[in-house]
Amino acid sequence: MTRGTPTATARVERQQPAHAPRRADPCTAIILGAGGDLTRRLLLPAFCRLAASDLLADDFLLLGVDRQPLDDAGFRAGLRARIGGEEAGAISDAAWEKLTPRIRYVSGDLTDPTAYAAIATKLAELEQDHAPEHRNRLFYLAVPPVIFDPIITQLAASGIAPRIESCDARPWVRIVVEKPFGDSLESAMALNEHVLELFDESQVYRIDHYLGKETVQNLLVFRFGNSIFEPLWNRAHIAHVEITSSETLGVETRGRYYEKAGVMRDMFQNHLLQLLSLTAMEPPVTMSADAVRDEKVKVLRSVRWLKHGTVDENAVRAQYAGGSIGGQLVRGYREEENVAPDSVAPTYAAVRFLIDNWRWSGVPFYVRSGKRMARRLTEIVIQFHRPPMLMFGHETRGALAPNKLVLRIQPKESIALTFEAKTPGAALSLTPEIEVASVAMNFCYSDVFGGSVSPAYETLLLDVMVGEATLFTRSDEVEASWRIVDPIIQRWERFTSKKIPTYRAGSWGPDESDDLLREGGAEWRNPDGD
Ligand code: BG6
Repeated sequence: MTRGTPTATARVERQQPAHAPRRADPCTAIILGAGGDLTRRLLLPAFCRLAASDLLADDFLLLGVDRQPLDDAGFRAGLRARIGGEEAGAISDAAWEKLTPRIRYVSGDLTDPTAYAAIATKLAELEQDHAPEHRNRLFYLAVPPVIFDPIITQLAASGIAPRIESCDARPWVRIVVEKPFGDSLESAMALNEHVLELFDESQVYRIDHYLGKETVQNLLVFRFGNSIFEPLWNRAHIAHVEITSSETLGVETRGRYYEKAGVMRDMFQNHLLQLLSLTAMEPPVTMSADAVRDEKVKVLRSVRWLKHGTVDENAVRAQYAGGSIGGQLVRGYREEENVAPDSVAPTYAAVRFLIDNWRWSGVPFYVRSGKRMARRLTEIVIQFHRPPMLMFGHETRGALAPNKLVLRIQPKESIALTFEAKTPGAALSLTPEIEVASVAMNFCYSDVFGGSVSPAYETLLLDVMVGEATLFTRSDEVEASWRIVDPIIQRWERFTSKKIPTYRAGSWGPDESDDLLREGGAEWRNPDGD
């Protein structure tokens, strides 16, 4: 008999002496598209918290740019009223007060070259009191992808963002680009080509907020800072890997975007393939940005492409129908705002990836993501092989669970290792059934380190301001990921019938997805509690 009884806990045994916290270089952060949702929900709250923690330089300024004709005070007042929200939480008055004197605004249409002349004038005025080496500029493209291209062109043409080849040059100019970076391999390659004609790769920070999550970063420390797991981290010991990112939210107000994106572009091309590459990569030669990214690219290039004819047997897609989540009735995807009543955009997908290299040959990586699922959960599950033989009586055979290592990314970041233990009192031999329980050793971030972990955007913005690019996606990495998802998207968009399976909102996805694992003798981990 198996019982899920998580027990043992972890504690800090030894801690490195604390380093002084990293502080951002002095700079002006220019948010292009500052009137949008991203600024209000994520960027401004992150800057506020960095200011409150005293991590911004004394010469830090934030310049918002958008169409609305506002002055500095009008922009600040509008932001204060709208800032924060569910993800970012409330922004305290104290945090806001620390940032607000540094906020400025310029109004302009970002598709019009005259806007850039206005930005140039404002920057010259703002930077005049700063030492030349403090006149660093961070341009954040918080805009819809259709205007990436013209903005990139104008940033360079206006002279406000010159190309700089050396990472050590001061002042620096860095460009942060939000996803989606292209909508296909072809468009991503064209965009990369354009960006790299005008800027050096070292100036471009392609953001993937999953890489800012604490447990995602801890994956590297876990794998390469310990010696007990690495010898097991291969096909000889691992039966399969599961990567899940499920959400209870639907498409909310983003129907128009989602109709074009679907789950493959929205989650797989970026976040999920990042998780896969960090799980599967070889040890990098150093922890430098390029060494880490070289290894990630190598593993992405080893992922077997699902050619036209092999997509159907390895990938499942579906769309949520109405259902209930947390006791509340929710509508189906086709009834959402700005969604076509006959839409076939997938809101769920599960894919079996194979990695053709020595470490992983023959080990399936089952990856799934969906909206409106039973619970919000992101985790990586490493399932080890069952013992080669079981001598505890034949009835136990099916009951013994394989060892699992569960790396929980959210919510409640944790790492748990499950193994089998004999329940006290049960006889060890000659009984038809030995009582066995699955127990877990559990390390929960907040129990051990206390407090809440720093939100992804805070980490990533600070990284840009100190010039740390490890957690940003390089151009070849973006293209390698598109190369993996493109054939799947094409198959679904061009060659399959205009029908799509559905799953009930509030469930764990369609039956087809369970079948995908069953074929390989596996089963999704669908936990209902912590
Ligand atoms: C975004 C997607 O990149 O990630 C959203 O566009 C998705 O559709 C979100 O909801 C999930 O992020 P998180 O951090 O809530 O898991």
